[in-house]
Amino acid sequence: MLILGIETSADETSAAVVEDGVKIRSNITASQIDIHTIYGGIVPEVSARSHIGEILPVIMGALHQADVTLADIDLIAVTRGPGLIGSLLIGVMTAKTLAVVTGKPIIGVNHIIAHALAAFLLEDGESPRWPILALTVSGGHTALTLYNKDLSFEVIGQTQDDAAGEAFDKVAKLLGLPYPGGPAISQVAESGDDRAFDFPIARMQNPLDFSFSGLKTAVLRQVRELEATGPLSKRQIADLAASFERAAVISLVTATKRAVEQYPPATIVVGGGVAANKRLRSELKLVLPEAVFVPQALCGDNAAMIAAAAFKMRQSGLVNSPIALTADSSLESL
Ligand code: KG4
Ligand code: ZN
Repeated sequence: MLILGIETSADETSAAVVEDGVKIRSNITASQIDIHTIYGGIVPEVSARSHIGEILPVIMGALHQADVTLADIDLIAVTRGPGLIGSLLIGVMTAKTLAVVTGKPIIGVNHIIAHALAAFLLEDGESPRWPILALTVSGGHTALTLYNKDLSFEVIGQTQDDAAGEAFDKVAKLLGLPYPGGPAISQVAESGDDRAFDFPIARMQNPLDFSFSGLKTAVLRQVRELEATGPLSKRQIADLAASFERAAVISLVTATKRAVEQYPPATIVVGGGVAANKRLRSELKLVLPEAVFVPQALCGDNAAMIAAAAFKMRQSGLVNSPIALTADSSLESL
């Protein structure tokens, strides 16, 4: 089965052709990072307009690279939410139009679930087994979720304020580092002392939940204190980045370990933009060596994961009506 995946929930316009839910025939992404860097973060209206210009060339490119035409596609899959509504609409309207014109079936996909199911796109590793416990860490979400084979799921822990990626982005801004903050912090942190500052790790009522806003505020206070005597030095920026990253990673790793003890899964999956973080990957591997990581290149937003998730949804008997399918910026269901 050939699935055309389309993703436009935030700052990447992406299209992919995936065979039988596992083999990536093409996965093309046009990033808007250069545009949003000017503003230090995503500007929703700018993002939506950029998707309009990119979507058709990106889809054509994905079909071309996969050496297929639209006629060869069996199913169209598109991110339905959560995300920026203006950006989601471009992908959803394009996918609906293609489905109506070609008469192909269509499936709307939850972006967060797709970040976890991207683990089925492992190049030569073993396929994940159900039930799956997923740590999904992105710019908009941070959650521990249990997925069953029929794709029913239960969120067993989640952030009570900022998402992990959002915290990386905000702290990066405080430190004068470029957008997106995650990769920038992680790079600068490599030369820093992660014990230079003792930043707090939130204690939650539900120990599987997360909170990053106190950590962010603690970094802000420390930055203000240091800046009182002059601009931050490179050394101070590196130490602040490393100490922040250490605290953020400890909180993610501790909750995930607890979740595994409490709800032993068949497979532990780690996905989402922040799952590209080297420190997070290595510390999780130490305490949970059996964890399966979404390949680094597929951690950020991409359409192959949307197609992979749609394949599983199709196997569970799901399909949407192209007319009724809508974008939903705060989508929580399947
Ligand atoms: O999943 P994603 O591409 O988009 C959303 O669905 O939000 O995640 C983007 C987030 C951004 O906040 C970015 O700063 C973060 O992932 N990120 C990282 C790293 N690479 C991307 N955070 C920490 N370390 C990284 N290496
Ligand atoms: Zn994402």
